[in-house]
Amino acid sequence: MATTLTLPKWYDLHTHFRQGANVRHYIADHLAMGCAGALAMPNTQPPVALVTGPDTASAWSIESYRDILLQAGADTFDQLIVPLYLTRDTTPRMIEQGASSGLLRACKYYPPHGTTNSEHGVPMDEWIGGDVFKAMEAHGIVLCIHGEQHALSGSNYFDENQTAESTFYTRSLPRILDAHPDLKIVCEHITTKTAADFVSSAPDHVGATITPQHLLYTVGHLIQGLKYHLYCLPVVKFEKDRDALRSAVSNAGQSKFFAGTDSAPHTNKATECGCAAGCYTGGCAPQLYAMALEEAGLDLESETGRKAFESFLCTNGPAFYGFPTSAESFALMREPSTTAVLKTEEGPVTPLPSGMGLEMHWAIA
Ligand code: DOR
Ligand code: ZN
Repeated sequence: MATTLTLPKWYDLHTHFRQGANVRHYIADHLAMGCAGALAMPNTQPPVALVTGPDTASAWSIESYRDILLQAGADTFDQLIVPLYLTRDTTPRMIEQGASSGLLRACKYYPPHGTTNSEHGVPMDEWIGGDVFKAMEAHGIVLCIHGEQHALSGSNYFDENQTAESTFYTRSLPRILDAHPDLKIVCEHITTKTAADFVSSAPDHVGATITPQHLLYTVGHLIQGLKYHLYCLPVVKFEKDRDALRSAVSNAGQSKFFAGTDSAPHTNKATECGCAAGCYTGGCAPQLYAMALEEAGLDLESETGRKAFESFLCTNGPAFYGFPTSAESFALMREPSTTAVLKTEEGPVTPLPSGMGLEMHWAIA
């Protein structure tokens, strides 16, 4: 009999469900992998930059985007958080009203032009000490941060000793904490030792999500054969960084690090002169996380190993966002499994393991 891990259903606290006809496929893939709820990113076109009210040509509201997702299958989830995209039009009043209505639970910082649909972002320096962050701090609204220094080029963007992420964590994060000591912060999809160390030593209301790909791979895997299905932002880093992420998640009793896949489907992944950033892990994320934690040295069949996995995947995230662990369960079985290319009306979406030729040895039971 194959080993079976029965776990509470998990929450993906950073994912992209996009817009249009494909939303239902992406949500279905999440449901199929034992996911009980999600934090769905607001980098649609136009961005989700209003809390409520009618959509405009330049912004959708959390209310209307949530409705789109609910109608596309997310009504089966027991949690669906859509963060507000922080733009030049965000006001403290939107934060206060959104917090009192319960619709607003988090806001998302995008570094301007730093990633997919991030052109509406406003540089971090302009937020620190300002009234929007003060209102978020006062109302317990979580700040989700894409932590990369914007507008760097070449060797300042990515270098052995310094990357856009490490620069951002060194320069900006200490200043955010100083100016807003009570602001709840999720450092999203962290990739570097610098970020992992920062989060570990920060107060308890600073947590982080980590993706499967950043636990499994390094930049060598990306460039050897230019495996572009592994291209996401922040880009996979070096061995020392992956080791730091692996230690962070496998440290028994840790409560700051949790699952957020950053599953980011692109139907036109390779473009004429480049590549869209994003790894699609719909349908296979818990299997990949299980493999990554084993590579980090955990024995998932031992009590401590299983507990560390469960904390990371199923319990730390809900505790951080302030909702209960799922009362339902799902199971992973130790046996070979495969992922198929998702064929959609808008084009194919290749899941990460297929792109990498990875053989999975965990399956959803
Ligand atoms: O790889 C990524 N893809 N990183 C991001 O920050 C955005 C995301 C997307 O929306 O495709
Ligand atoms: Zn993302």
